[in-house]
Amino acid sequence: MITAVTKVIRYLLLVTVNQQRVSRKRTYLLCSPERFDVEYAINPWMDVSTPVDRELAVKQWDRLRETLVALGHEVHLLTPEPGLPDMVFAANGAFTVDGTAYGARFKHEQRAAEAALHRAFYESRGWRFIAPGETNEGEGDFAYLPDAYGGLILAGHGFRTELPAHAEAQEALGRPVVSLHLVDPRFYHLDVALAAIDDGNVAYYPGAFSAASQQVLAQLFPDAMLADDADALAFGLNLVSDGANVVLHAEATRLAGKLRAAGYTPVPVELTELRKGGGCVKCCVAELRH
Ligand code: ARG
Repeated sequence: MITAVTKVIRYLLLVTVNQQRVSRKRTYLLCSPERFDVEYAINPWMDVSTPVDRELAVKQWDRLRETLVALGHEVHLLTPEPGLPDMVFAANGAFTVDGTAYGARFKHEQRAAEAALHRAFYESRGWRFIAPGETNEGEGDFAYLPDAYGGLILAGHGFRTELPAHAEAQEALGRPVVSLHLVDPRFYHLDVALAAIDDGNVAYYPGAFSAASQQVLAQLFPDAMLADDADALAFGLNLVSDGANVVLHAEATRLAGKLRAAGYTPVPVELTELRKGGGCVKCCVAELRH
């Protein structure tokens, strides 16, 4: 009897504690899709024969920007450049931790010139900038969890970012980097398969990772939220969380339900046009961690 009562009390306590998610004010870097297009195909989602409604892309992206501002976050903007149709995916330009920016070096020639534009942004604002020697696509393949194990970086490899960049990032940023092997080409960046939902926990889609990497994730994050196939394929994990509010693609309805049940507030947005480029919410948002 007593154990049953204790169990109920413990459960109720857990539920109440879970409900109190705390948001932390963030600073983000975005780039308008005024020049967005699908002119080449460098991931399985891109199809050059599908027309892009750029006006709609801008309208949907504007809503995303307004949503982040309305949640109390600071948004900086990069100027879109002609000839760089993927520049809207600002997450790929660098990865920042505690005032240091580790620059990107794109895998594909078509996006290579974006790196210098991001670098100029950080250097003009006095960031410590570490130029990369290794191929890496910034926050597309790196995630930071300040409260996990004293500050942990998760890094993807397999499609874009190359393994030596993980060691380079560790030296640049002074945080342990855990390498995760992406094995499904539809999840070609870490940020389409895994997201930090708060400072110490993640949501992810196990099927995007090698069996060994799944084991690593299960060991590090026993309380992780797991996404199903449909939510993962709807770009649900390509989300932006401030610790309490989770901005995510509107189609990822089941993941939104799981988040709500765990005490987060899902904030759905539509980004159907940008998805034609193989990106969604998180791809458009680089976090500036001062
Ligand atoms: N078309 C872009 C590419 O393939 C999409 C990038 C999406 N960005 C991201 N962080 N996943 O490079």
